[in-house]
Amino acid sequence: MADSADASAESDDAYDEPLFQRVIQYAAAADRDVIDMVSGHPDWEPPEALREGLHAYADAREFQYPPSEGLRELREAIAARRNVDESRIVVTNGAGEANYLAMAGAIERGSGSEFLLTDPVYPYYPGKADLLDADATRVPVREDGHVDVEAMRAAATDDTAAIVVNTPNNPTGAVYDRESVAALADVAGEVDALLVVDEVYDHFDFSNRFESALTLGREHVVVTSAFSKSMAITGFRVGYAVFPEDLVEEALTRHMLVNVATSRPAQAAVEHALRETPPSYYESVRDTLRERIDAFTDALDAAGADYTTPEGAFYVLARFEDFPGTRANVERLIDEAGVAGMPGEAFGDVYDDWIRFALCTDRADEAADRLAAYFEDR
Ligand SMILES: Cc1ncc(COP(=O)(O)O)c(C=O)c1O
Repeated sequence: MADSADASAESDDAYDEPLFQRVIQYAAAADRDVIDMVSGHPDWEPPEALREGLHAYADAREFQYPPSEGLRELREAIAARRNVDESRIVVTNGAGEANYLAMAGAIERGSGSEFLLTDPVYPYYPGKADLLDADATRVPVREDGHVDVEAMRAAATDDTAAIVVNTPNNPTGAVYDRESVAALADVAGEVDALLVVDEVYDHFDFSNRFESALTLGREHVVVTSAFSKSMAITGFRVGYAVFPEDLVEEALTRHMLVNVATSRPAQAAVEHALRETPPSYYESVRDTLRERIDAFTDALDAAGADYTTPEGAFYVLARFEDFPGTRANVERLIDEAGVAGMPGEAFGDVYDDWIRFALCTDRADEAADRLAAYFEDR
Protein backbone atom coordinates (compact mmCIF):
# COMPACT_ATOMS: atom_id res chain seq x y z
CA MET A 1 0.00 0.00 0.00
CA ALA A 2 0.98 3.61 -0.38
CA ASP A 3 2.62 5.61 2.33
CA SER A 4 -0.25 8.02 1.97
CA ALA A 5 -3.98 7.63 1.94
CA ASP A 6 -4.22 10.41 -0.57
CA ALA A 7 -3.58 7.99 -3.37
CA SER A 8 -5.72 7.23 -6.34
CA ALA A 9 -6.46 4.45 -8.73
CA GLU A 10 -6.66 4.31 -12.47
CA SER A 11 -6.86 0.54 -12.93
CA ASP A 12 -7.66 -2.53 -10.93
CA ASP A 13 -4.08 -3.00 -9.79
CA ALA A 14 -3.64 0.65 -8.96
CA TYR A 15 -3.97 0.12 -5.23
CA ASP A 16 -0.75 -1.84 -5.30
CA GLU A 17 1.05 1.11 -6.78
CA PRO A 18 -1.21 4.11 -6.44
CA LEU A 19 -1.24 6.82 -9.06
CA PHE A 20 -0.41 9.26 -6.31
CA GLN A 21 2.99 7.63 -5.88
CA ARG A 22 3.65 7.48 -9.58
CA VAL A 23 3.02 11.20 -9.93
CA ILE A 24 5.20 11.97 -6.90
CA GLN A 25 7.98 9.78 -8.26
CA TYR A 26 7.71 11.40 -11.65
CA ALA A 27 7.95 14.84 -10.07
CA ALA A 28 10.93 13.82 -7.91
CA ALA A 29 12.79 12.51 -10.94
CA ALA A 30 12.16 15.67 -12.97
CA ASP A 31 15.18 17.58 -14.07
CA ARG A 32 13.97 20.85 -12.60
CA ASP A 33 12.45 22.48 -9.55
CA VAL A 34 8.88 21.23 -9.15
CA ILE A 35 6.28 22.63 -6.74
CA ASP A 36 4.50 19.64 -5.21
CA MET A 37 0.75 20.12 -5.03
CA VAL A 38 -0.06 16.45 -5.38
CA SER A 39 -0.76 15.21 -1.92
CA GLY A 40 -2.85 16.32 1.02
CA HIS A 41 0.00 16.23 3.56
CA PRO A 42 -0.17 19.45 5.53
CA ASP A 43 3.07 21.44 5.33
CA TRP A 44 2.14 23.52 8.39
CA GLU A 45 3.08 22.83 11.99
CA PRO A 46 1.09 20.64 14.36
CA PRO A 47 -0.18 22.31 17.53
CA GLU A 48 2.55 23.10 20.04
CA ALA A 49 0.84 20.84 22.58
CA LEU A 50 1.22 17.87 20.25
CA ARG A 51 5.00 18.02 20.54
CA GLU A 52 4.71 18.57 24.30
CA GLY A 53 2.50 15.52 24.60
CA LEU A 54 4.95 13.45 22.60
CA HIS A 55 7.94 14.58 24.69
CA ALA A 56 6.08 13.92 27.92
CA TYR A 57 5.21 10.47 26.71
CA ALA A 58 8.84 9.39 26.50
CA ASP A 59 9.00 9.47 30.31
CA ALA A 60 5.65 7.83 30.86
CA ARG A 61 6.84 4.22 30.63
CA GLU A 62 3.47 3.12 29.37
CA PHE A 63 4.80 1.06 26.56
CA GLN A 64 2.38 -1.85 26.56
CA TYR A 65 -0.88 -2.49 24.76
CA PRO A 66 -3.47 0.22 25.12
CA PRO A 67 -7.15 -0.79 25.25
CA SER A 68 -8.12 -1.98 21.79
CA GLU A 69 -11.00 0.52 21.54
CA GLY A 70 -8.63 3.42 22.29
CA LEU A 71 -7.24 5.21 25.35
CA ARG A 72 -10.05 6.05 27.73
CA GLU A 73 -9.01 9.71 28.06
CA LEU A 74 -8.92 10.12 24.31
CA ARG A 75 -12.32 8.50 23.82
CA GLU A 76 -13.71 10.73 26.56
CA ALA A 77 -12.28 13.81 24.87
CA ILE A 78 -13.73 12.77 21.50
CA ALA A 79 -17.09 11.94 23.07
CA ALA A 80 -17.26 15.35 24.73
CA ARG A 81 -16.28 17.12 21.54
CA ARG A 82 -18.76 15.19 19.39
CA ASN A 83 -21.47 15.10 22.06
CA VAL A 84 -21.98 11.35 21.81
CA ASP A 85 -21.74 8.48 24.22
CA GLU A 86 -18.18 7.25 24.61
CA SER A 87 -19.30 3.65 24.04
CA ARG A 88 -19.96 4.45 20.38
CA ILE A 89 -16.36 5.49 19.63
CA VAL A 90 -13.66 3.25 18.18
CA VAL A 91 -10.22 4.85 17.93
CA THR A 92 -8.66 3.76 14.64
CA ASN A 93 -5.53 4.02 12.57
CA GLY A 94 -6.66 7.19 10.88
CA ALA A 95 -9.84 7.97 9.01
CA GLY A 96 -8.72 5.31 6.53
CA GLU A 97 -9.34 2.49 8.98
CA ALA A 98 -12.47 4.17 10.30
CA ASN A 99 -13.90 4.22 6.77
CA TYR A 100 -12.96 0.60 6.28
CA LEU A 101 -14.64 -0.47 9.54
CA ALA A 102 -17.76 1.47 8.60
CA MET A 103 -17.94 -0.03 5.11
CA ALA A 104 -17.18 -3.55 6.34
CA GLY A 105 -19.86 -3.11 9.02
CA ALA A 106 -22.34 -2.05 6.35
CA ILE A 107 -21.73 -5.27 4.41
CA GLU A 108 -21.77 -7.37 7.57
CA ARG A 109 -25.26 -6.09 8.41
CA GLY A 110 -26.43 -8.14 5.44
CA SER A 111 -28.84 -5.64 3.98
CA GLY A 112 -26.97 -5.07 0.73
CA SER A 113 -23.75 -5.50 -1.18
CA GLU A 114 -23.41 -2.22 -3.01
CA PHE A 115 -21.97 1.16 -2.05
CA LEU A 116 -23.29 4.41 -3.40
CA LEU A 117 -20.44 6.87 -3.85
CA THR A 118 -20.12 10.23 -5.52
CA ASP A 119 -18.29 11.02 -8.74
CA PRO A 120 -15.78 12.54 -8.22
CA VAL A 121 -14.82 10.32 -5.32
CA TYR A 122 -11.98 10.00 -2.84
CA PRO A 123 -10.42 6.96 -4.57
CA TYR A 124 -9.93 4.88 -1.45
CA TYR A 125 -13.70 4.34 -1.12
CA PRO A 126 -14.03 2.34 -4.36
CA GLY A 127 -10.75 0.66 -3.38
CA LYS A 128 -12.26 -0.49 -0.10
CA ALA A 129 -15.45 -1.58 -1.88
CA ASP A 130 -13.27 -3.77 -4.10
CA LEU A 131 -11.50 -5.17 -1.08
CA LEU A 132 -14.87 -6.06 0.42
CA ASP A 133 -15.92 -7.68 -2.84
CA ALA A 134 -18.78 -5.22 -3.09
CA ASP A 135 -20.06 -3.17 -6.00
CA ALA A 136 -19.61 0.57 -6.10
CA THR A 137 -21.92 2.90 -8.00
CA ARG A 138 -20.76 6.45 -8.50
CA VAL A 139 -23.41 9.12 -8.62
CA PRO A 140 -22.30 12.36 -10.32
CA VAL A 141 -22.29 15.41 -8.07
CA ARG A 142 -24.11 18.60 -9.04
CA GLU A 143 -22.33 21.16 -11.12
CA ASP A 144 -21.40 23.10 -7.98
CA GLY A 145 -19.60 20.05 -6.57
CA HIS A 146 -22.30 19.28 -4.00
CA VAL A 147 -23.86 15.88 -3.56
CA ASP A 148 -26.94 15.34 -5.75
CA VAL A 149 -29.40 14.03 -3.19
CA GLU A 150 -32.17 13.26 -5.67
CA ALA A 151 -29.80 11.30 -7.90
CA MET A 152 -28.64 9.39 -4.81
CA ARG A 153 -32.26 8.67 -3.95
CA ALA A 154 -32.88 7.40 -7.49
CA ALA A 155 -29.78 5.18 -7.32
CA ALA A 156 -30.55 3.69 -3.90
CA THR A 157 -31.99 0.16 -3.94
CA ASP A 158 -32.59 -2.71 -1.56
CA ASP A 159 -29.09 -3.84 -2.41
CA THR A 160 -27.49 -0.62 -1.11
CA ALA A 161 -25.32 -1.39 1.90
CA ALA A 162 -24.17 2.19 2.49
CA ILE A 163 -23.99 5.63 1.01
CA VAL A 164 -20.47 6.93 1.62
CA VAL A 165 -19.83 10.66 1.40
CA ASN A 166 -17.20 13.11 2.56
CA THR A 167 -17.73 16.69 3.69
CA PRO A 168 -15.91 19.11 3.55
CA ASN A 169 -15.14 17.37 0.31
CA ASN A 170 -11.96 16.14 -1.28
CA PRO A 171 -11.66 16.94 -4.17
CA THR A 172 -14.52 19.41 -4.92
CA GLY A 173 -14.21 21.57 -1.80
CA ALA A 174 -18.00 21.48 -1.28
CA VAL A 175 -19.33 21.69 2.28
CA TYR A 176 -22.64 19.84 2.26
CA ASP A 177 -25.50 21.61 3.99
CA ARG A 178 -27.35 20.07 6.88
CA GLU A 179 -30.50 19.46 4.85
CA SER A 180 -28.63 17.46 2.22
CA VAL A 181 -26.96 15.25 4.79
CA ALA A 182 -30.29 14.76 6.59
CA ALA A 183 -31.91 13.83 3.27
CA LEU A 184 -29.11 11.32 2.60
CA ALA A 185 -29.77 9.83 6.03
CA ASP A 186 -33.45 9.53 5.04
CA VAL A 187 -32.52 7.78 1.79
CA ALA A 188 -30.25 5.39 3.68
CA GLY A 189 -33.04 4.68 6.16
CA GLU A 190 -35.56 4.04 3.37
CA VAL A 191 -33.46 1.22 1.90
CA ASP A 192 -32.14 -0.02 5.25
CA ALA A 193 -28.60 1.10 4.43
CA LEU A 194 -26.03 3.07 6.42
CA LEU A 195 -24.94 6.61 5.72
CA VAL A 196 -21.18 6.92 6.26
CA VAL A 197 -19.99 10.51 6.52
CA ASP A 198 -16.23 11.06 6.44
CA GLU A 199 -15.60 14.36 8.23
CA VAL A 200 -11.80 14.27 8.21
CA TYR A 201 -11.70 17.90 6.95
CA ASP A 202 -14.14 19.19 9.57
CA HIS A 203 -11.73 21.87 10.81
CA PHE A 204 -11.24 23.22 7.31
CA ASP A 205 -14.60 24.90 6.80
CA PHE A 206 -14.42 28.35 5.24
CA SER A 207 -18.17 28.57 4.69
CA ASN A 208 -19.19 28.41 8.36
CA ARG A 209 -21.90 26.03 7.22
CA PHE A 210 -20.38 22.71 8.21
CA GLU A 211 -22.40 20.72 10.72
CA SER A 212 -21.44 17.23 11.71
CA ALA A 213 -23.86 14.48 10.68
CA LEU A 214 -23.78 13.46 14.34
CA THR A 215 -25.92 16.47 15.17
CA LEU A 216 -28.75 14.85 13.19
CA GLY A 217 -29.10 12.18 15.85
CA ARG A 218 -30.06 9.58 13.25
CA GLU A 219 -29.82 5.83 13.74
CA HIS A 220 -28.33 4.84 10.42
CA VAL A 221 -25.34 7.17 10.46
CA VAL A 222 -21.65 6.41 11.00
CA VAL A 223 -19.29 9.37 11.22
CA THR A 224 -15.58 8.93 10.60
CA SER A 225 -12.77 11.35 11.26
CA ALA A 226 -9.13 11.71 12.27
CA PHE A 227 -6.55 14.13 13.60
CA SER A 228 -4.38 13.56 10.52
CA LYS A 229 -5.35 16.81 8.86
CA SER A 230 -6.71 18.91 11.73
CA MET A 231 -3.45 18.52 13.68
CA ALA A 232 -1.21 18.16 10.62
CA ILE A 233 -0.11 14.68 11.67
CA THR A 234 -0.90 12.31 8.82
CA GLY A 235 1.96 10.11 10.01
CA PHE A 236 0.53 9.51 13.49
CA ARG A 237 -2.42 7.41 12.36
CA VAL A 238 -5.01 8.41 14.93
CA GLY A 239 -8.62 8.60 13.84
CA TYR A 240 -11.99 7.35 14.97
CA ALA A 241 -15.43 6.21 13.97
CA VAL A 242 -18.67 6.93 15.79
CA PHE A 243 -21.02 3.99 15.26
CA PRO A 244 -24.66 3.39 16.08
CA GLU A 245 -24.76 1.29 19.29
CA ASP A 246 -25.67 -1.93 17.49
CA LEU A 247 -22.65 -1.82 15.18
CA VAL A 248 -19.93 -1.08 17.73
CA GLU A 249 -19.23 -4.63 18.83
CA GLU A 250 -18.55 -5.97 15.36
CA ALA A 251 -16.35 -2.97 14.50
CA LEU A 252 -14.34 -3.47 17.69
CA THR A 253 -13.77 -7.11 16.84
CA ARG A 254 -12.58 -6.31 13.34
CA HIS A 255 -10.34 -3.51 14.64
CA MET A 256 -8.84 -5.81 17.27
CA LEU A 257 -8.24 -8.72 14.94
CA VAL A 258 -6.59 -6.56 12.31
CA ASN A 259 -4.68 -4.05 14.44
CA VAL A 260 -4.87 -5.13 18.07
CA ALA A 261 -4.93 -1.41 18.84
CA THR A 262 -3.82 2.03 17.65
CA SER A 263 -0.38 3.30 18.70
CA ARG A 264 -0.36 4.33 22.34
CA PRO A 265 2.14 7.23 22.19
CA ALA A 266 0.32 8.75 19.23
CA GLN A 267 -3.04 8.55 21.03
CA ALA A 268 -1.55 10.04 24.20
CA ALA A 269 0.00 12.95 22.33
CA VAL A 270 -3.25 13.63 20.48
CA GLU A 271 -5.21 13.52 23.73
CA HIS A 272 -2.86 16.07 25.30
CA ALA A 273 -3.08 18.26 22.20
CA LEU A 274 -6.89 18.07 22.15
CA ARG A 275 -6.98 19.30 25.71
CA GLU A 276 -4.38 22.06 25.37
CA THR A 277 -4.78 23.46 21.88
CA PRO A 278 -6.64 26.77 21.70
CA PRO A 279 -9.12 27.47 18.87
CA SER A 280 -6.63 30.04 17.58
CA TYR A 281 -4.42 27.23 16.25
CA TYR A 282 -7.14 26.00 13.91
CA GLU A 283 -8.13 29.56 13.02
CA SER A 284 -4.59 30.50 12.03
CA VAL A 285 -4.28 27.43 9.79
CA ARG A 286 -7.57 28.40 8.13
CA ASP A 287 -6.25 31.95 7.67
CA THR A 288 -3.13 30.61 5.98
CA LEU A 289 -5.24 28.45 3.71
CA ARG A 290 -7.58 31.34 2.87
CA GLU A 291 -4.54 33.34 1.76
CA ARG A 292 -3.31 30.44 -0.34
CA ILE A 293 -6.72 29.98 -1.93
CA ASP A 294 -6.87 33.68 -2.83
CA ALA A 295 -3.36 33.81 -4.24
CA PHE A 296 -3.77 30.60 -6.20
CA THR A 297 -7.17 31.39 -7.66
CA ASP A 298 -6.15 34.98 -8.56
CA ALA A 299 -3.32 33.59 -10.63
CA LEU A 300 -5.63 30.97 -12.15
CA ASP A 301 -7.84 33.88 -13.23
CA ALA A 302 -4.82 35.36 -14.92
CA ALA A 303 -4.25 32.01 -16.63
CA GLY A 304 -7.82 32.06 -17.95
CA ALA A 305 -8.58 28.77 -16.17
CA ASP A 306 -11.84 27.58 -14.70
CA TYR A 307 -11.47 26.60 -11.08
CA THR A 308 -13.33 25.67 -7.93
CA THR A 309 -13.06 27.90 -4.87
CA PRO A 310 -13.11 25.55 -1.88
CA GLU A 311 -15.80 26.08 0.74
CA GLY A 312 -13.82 23.58 2.77
CA ALA A 313 -10.84 21.19 2.76
CA PHE A 314 -7.72 22.36 0.93
CA TYR A 315 -7.89 21.43 -2.73
CA VAL A 316 -8.52 23.48 -5.84
CA LEU A 317 -9.68 21.87 -9.07
CA ALA A 318 -8.59 23.75 -12.17
CA ARG A 319 -9.44 23.26 -15.82
CA PHE A 320 -7.28 24.63 -18.59
CA GLU A 321 -8.51 24.92 -22.16
CA ASP A 322 -7.71 21.89 -24.32
CA PHE A 323 -5.73 20.35 -21.52
CA PRO A 324 -7.71 17.48 -19.92
CA GLY A 325 -6.75 16.13 -16.50
CA THR A 326 -4.92 13.05 -17.73
CA ARG A 327 -1.79 11.58 -16.26
CA ALA A 328 0.10 12.52 -19.44
CA ASN A 329 -0.92 16.16 -19.07
CA VAL A 330 -0.02 16.18 -15.39
CA GLU A 331 3.43 14.90 -16.35
CA ARG A 332 3.67 17.60 -19.01
CA LEU A 333 2.93 20.25 -16.38
CA ILE A 334 5.66 18.81 -14.17
CA ASP A 335 8.22 18.93 -16.98
CA GLU A 336 7.20 22.13 -18.66
CA ALA A 337 5.69 24.28 -15.90
CA GLY A 338 7.33 22.88 -12.78
CA VAL A 339 4.03 22.26 -10.98
CA ALA A 340 2.71 18.84 -9.90
CA GLY A 341 -1.00 18.15 -9.34
CA MET A 342 -3.29 15.13 -9.38
CA PRO A 343 -5.03 14.10 -12.60
CA GLY A 344 -8.78 14.70 -12.32
CA GLU A 345 -9.41 11.35 -13.98
CA ALA A 346 -8.11 9.70 -10.79
CA PHE A 347 -11.35 10.77 -9.06
CA GLY A 348 -13.81 9.52 -11.67
CA ASP A 349 -15.35 10.77 -14.89
CA VAL A 350 -17.07 13.98 -13.91
CA TYR A 351 -13.88 15.97 -13.34
CA ASP A 352 -11.65 14.18 -15.84
CA ASP A 353 -11.00 17.48 -17.58
CA TRP A 354 -9.65 18.97 -14.36
CA ILE A 355 -6.46 18.82 -12.32
CA ARG A 356 -6.50 18.89 -8.53
CA PHE A 357 -3.98 21.04 -6.69
CA ALA A 358 -3.42 20.56 -2.95
CA LEU A 359 -2.70 23.80 -1.11
CA CYS A 360 -0.12 22.08 1.07
CA THR A 361 2.78 24.27 0.07
CA ASP A 362 3.76 27.83 0.88
CA ARG A 363 4.61 28.21 -2.81
CA ALA A 364 0.99 28.05 -4.05
CA ASP A 365 1.15 31.57 -5.47
CA GLU A 366 4.42 30.84 -7.27
CA ALA A 367 2.87 27.65 -8.65
CA ALA A 368 -0.10 29.56 -9.97
CA ASP A 369 2.20 32.14 -11.59
CA ARG A 370 4.06 29.30 -13.29
CA LEU A 371 0.79 27.88 -14.55
CA ALA A 372 -0.34 31.29 -15.79
CA ALA A 373 2.95 31.80 -17.66
CA TYR A 374 2.83 28.29 -19.11
CA PHE A 375 -0.70 28.60 -20.46
CA GLU A 376 -0.05 32.08 -21.80
CA ASP A 377 2.84 30.77 -23.91
CA ARG A 378 1.05 27.69 -25.17
C1 LIG B 1 -11.63 12.19 2.29
C2 LIG B 1 -10.49 11.54 3.00
N1 LIG B 1 -10.73 10.58 3.90
C3 LIG B 1 -9.74 9.96 4.55
C4 LIG B 1 -8.42 10.30 4.32
C5 LIG B 1 -7.35 9.55 5.04
O1 LIG B 1 -7.25 10.01 6.34
P1 LIG B 1 -6.22 9.33 7.37
O2 LIG B 1 -4.85 9.79 6.97
O3 LIG B 1 -6.64 9.85 8.69
O4 LIG B 1 -6.38 7.86 7.22
C6 LIG B 1 -8.10 11.31 3.39
C7 LIG B 1 -6.70 11.66 3.10
O5 LIG B 1 -6.38 12.34 2.16
C8 LIG B 1 -9.17 11.94 2.71
O6 LIG B 1 -8.93 12.91 1.80
